[in-house]
Amino acid sequence: MAKAQAPDERPATDLEAGGEAPTADAARIASMLEQIAVTGTVPRRPGITRLAYSEPERAAHRLFAGWLEEIGLAVHTDAAGNTIAQLPGTDLDAPAIAIGSHLDSVPEGGRFDGIVGVVGAVEAARVLAGRDARTTHPLRFVAFAAEEGARFGEPCIGSKIVARRLRTATLARRDRDGVSLAEAMAGVGVDSRRLSEAAWDPADWAAFLELHIEQARVLESGGRRIGLVDSVSGSTRVRITVLGQADHSGGTPMHMRVDALAAAAEIIVAAERLANEPQNRGARITVGQIQVAPNSITTISGQADVTVDIRDLDWDRQRAIAERVVQLASEVGERRGAGVEVDLLAHTTPVVLPMWIRTVAAETCSDLGIPYRVLPSGAGHDAQVINAIVPAGIVFVPSRGGLSHVPDEWTNPTDVALGVDVLCGMVDRLDAVLTSGAKGTTDESA
Ligand code: GLV
Ligand code: MN
Ligand code: MN
Repeated sequence: MAKAQAPDERPATDLEAGGEAPTADAARIASMLEQIAVTGTVPRRPGITRLAYSEPERAAHRLFAGWLEEIGLAVHTDAAGNTIAQLPGTDLDAPAIAIGSHLDSVPEGGRFDGIVGVVGAVEAARVLAGRDARTTHPLRFVAFAAEEGARFGEPCIGSKIVARRLRTATLARRDRDGVSLAEAMAGVGVDSRRLSEAAWDPADWAAFLELHIEQARVLESGGRRIGLVDSVSGSTRVRITVLGQADHSGGTPMHMRVDALAAAAEIIVAAERLANEPQNRGARITVGQIQVAPNSITTISGQADVTVDIRDLDWDRQRAIAERVVQLASEVGERRGAGVEVDLLAHTTPVVLPMWIRTVAAETCSDLGIPYRVLPSGAGHDAQVINAIVPAGIVFVPSRGGLSHVPDEWTNPTDVALGVDVLCGMVDRLDAVLTSGAKGTTDESA
């Protein structure tokens, strides 16, 4: 891992140059990132593996809770395993302005995806709690459980539970080791029969802000350190099971085979071609997982399971592509005499985030003298789900080389600190806008 820049190497913003407000500390952020990384380090495995509803994920939540308790905040874990802390405002009846992200990772992933937003929330809490003046609205700091869909296919489980958007059937979904989501929850003390207790009352929440790494290279190539997200892609995920006939690799003539793996290979290439068709430009289709049985050099594959992840900003096209993938798979199966079964794993809609929150973000950046870029997100986020019940905004910081979901994922802690300064500025502006009821003047369209 590259070495964190020392805090004094951090370029000063205009505001800092004027020496006005307390700002985020990059060295503290780097230290928190390091401590969370330890919870996901697995011997002889590259990168970070801190899967949804696993003990390493809980260990990261305990660190988050401990840091916020040190600052003096009241912290609790909800019925879904999300950790939430509150800094009271001056108006006891006002709804909360919240900041947060997630603490789980993909298998062999990086140290920054999600973590930057949670560590950023802790640092924002420290800055905001350290000031003399309180905001009118209470502030909440949230670490969601199980955002990555890598273990059970379903993304944003913790945020879907609070937004009442998790289908009960998902609890029966099994990971690669045969452990169901409900069993994984039980393993870390989350009772899947009580998830509804975690639901948020939208009247109790005014806005939700998420700081996240970009996971692409638009900011880096444009020389910008802050991105304001206008829209977030949806994703449809299916598992395609191809059923062939396992048989001897030497004894079975080529014309007598029903090779499940060869059929799956055709499906994979057909899906990739589909994404490259001109009318689908902008959509992304990925087969990232394949399981073959019996997985032996000398046996023709009897079964192959592949997952297909279809991402798009256009909901109609996302669904149309998913239908086309299923159709292509059954055509391949028919031609080869193989069975094809399809299981819908998840169906998350794309969202356009509210313009008025992005305007608050843009005005904050202008105040702080920070150039920004407005851009869409190709990856999914908890804020995208929360936006269904509470207006949400997402602030991006650059990913080095655009890399993400890999051990080489890297974001400079000084950029995270700048992102925290933007969050704190947004909290102040939102507090003022929501208190004065002047949202309409900030509201350019939505
Ligand atoms: C989250 O990173 C996702 O897979 O979209
Ligand atoms: Mn993430
Ligand atoms: Mn991710």
